[in-house]
Amino acid sequence: MRTMRLDKFVSHTTPHSRSEVRLLLRAGRLRVNGQPVKDAGLALGHEDAVTLDGTLLTLRGPRYFMLNKPAGVVSATEDGEHRTVLDLLRDEDPDGLHIAGRLDIDTTGLVLITDDGQWSHRVKAPGRHEKRYRVQTARPIPDDAEAQFANGLRLRGEEDQPTLPARLQKLGPCEALVWLQEGRYHQVKRMFAAIGNHVECLHREAVAGIELDLALSPGEWRPLTPLEVALGQTKA
Ligand code: URA
Repeated sequence: MRTMRLDKFVSHTTPHSRSEVRLLLRAGRLRVNGQPVKDAGLALGHEDAVTLDGTLLTLRGPRYFMLNKPAGVVSATEDGEHRTVLDLLRDEDPDGLHIAGRLDIDTTGLVLITDDGQWSHRVKAPGRHEKRYRVQTARPIPDDAEAQFANGLRLRGEEDQPTLPARLQKLGPCEALVWLQEGRYHQVKRMFAAIGNHVECLHREAVAGIELDLALSPGEWRPLTPLEVALGQTKA
């Protein structure tokens, strides 16, 4: 908000029409920076705090972004040592933003960032949506890997909880696409370790039907479109 008339601001942030706003002003129910105001045409700057009956009014709706995470950046809101994905969202106010599904520091690709907790909860819920990864491995991927991923694997330290069925499609001797329905700690790397292999490169291409925009270079981001937001909301 650069400057905006007070009555316009209140009619945008509440169900009240501009004429109703005048009544609210007359009744002393609106305050700017804690002071009661009467002037409907008061020009507000972006620092001004407007309250109605003590509740702060804000123009901002929920925010949703996709980012192409480069290697070396951490999926955290703060880190003493490394750059974070939120540092990359330079012009956006970080207040309330969080990551809907983290990637390891060396993993690249699609990260979703939002301040809508319910939305990120749905996106991350196991069994609800798929995430697609492109994987490069140190050693050739055996032909039975597809069946092993589909049957579920017992990961080291979690032997009593096999992974949910996952799809694997071999693209070359040491390259595959993998679709996961859950997001356990280092899951792709641990699944390949469980079949005696090692992940060399890991890149996330899609989450919940939201595809990483190929126009985004590593480190770039953009807001999600309404369709992409809706994909995260619906059950796949
Ligand atoms: N699985 C991993 O092992 N690492 C990631 O960053 C994401 C999925």
